[in-house]
Amino acid sequence: MSPDSPAFTIAAFHDDRTGTVSYVLADPATRQAAIIDPVLDFDLKSGRTSTIQADRLLAHLAEARLTVQWILETHAHADHLSAARYLQSHVGGRIAIGEHIREVQAVFRDLYNLERDFLPDGRPFDHLFRDGETFLIGGIQAQAVLVPGHTPACVAYHVRDGRAEGAPDAVFVGDTMFMPDVGTARADFPGGDAATLYRSIRRLLALPPATRLFVCHDYPPEGRAPAWETTVADQRAHNIHVHDGVSESAFVALRTGRDARLEVPALILPSLQINIRAGQLPPAEDNGVSYLKIPLNTLSRQ
Ligand SMILES: [Fe+2]
Repeated sequence: MSPDSPAFTIAAFHDDRTGTVSYVLADPATRQAAIIDPVLDFDLKSGRTSTIQADRLLAHLAEARLTVQWILETHAHADHLSAARYLQSHVGGRIAIGEHIREVQAVFRDLYNLERDFLPDGRPFDHLFRDGETFLIGGIQAQAVLVPGHTPACVAYHVRDGRAEGAPDAVFVGDTMFMPDVGTARADFPGGDAATLYRSIRRLLALPPATRLFVCHDYPPEGRAPAWETTVADQRAHNIHVHDGVSESAFVALRTGRDARLEVPALILPSLQINIRAGQLPPAEDNGVSYLKIPLNTLSRQ
């Protein structure tokens, strides 16, 4: 590889319907790749899943002749179903998330009163990351950074361009910060906490200013096209919720005030049921059909 070759490539796939951005991070030298936050399409009205978004990823993987080593979730999403299991069945790879997924599994096992053999032990994820754990994607050095606050199990993935001198690192920040003009993720889901989110964000913003940040969602204001890449410097200067100078107490007041006015996401109850199972549908009943549960009068606003 010449010194000018990029050590990694990043392809982004924006889902208009949920505002989610999925990524394929690849090492051109080894053609090994990681998929980050893949979306399984879901129509709530008909109860039907489909794979339009996931198939875009499969087409890209085939076209670029990539082998999937990892399928990485930044957290158990509440706004979309994960396509991790569908993609794994097609292209392999280990499905991974932060180790605190166990806490999220325990909360939602109780909420849904799941089957007895559903254990909050991290299964069926193939790997649970500890804070600071390093791993490889082909020859790319990657590190899991636990960034709780939006949920207890949130993890950011920090990748280093070890072979390109001076090239900035990239971090997939999940739902911590959004683009600077949108701000930050909500912190009112079960186990969420605004002060914890603030500390996680400041930890990411302590990285070098040129560090590239890739967000998990964009909800652009009127007139702006969807975007997903920003930098530490940009966030520190312009993020409407956490720019430099915003104290933890000011952030907590702003975040909790906003969260109190936000509606529960439309797909939270379907999503968590699938996403705590790493994108697997619940076990089929004796007629061969999988069902989702809607617990009545149980999900409390925080
Ligand atoms: Fe989220």
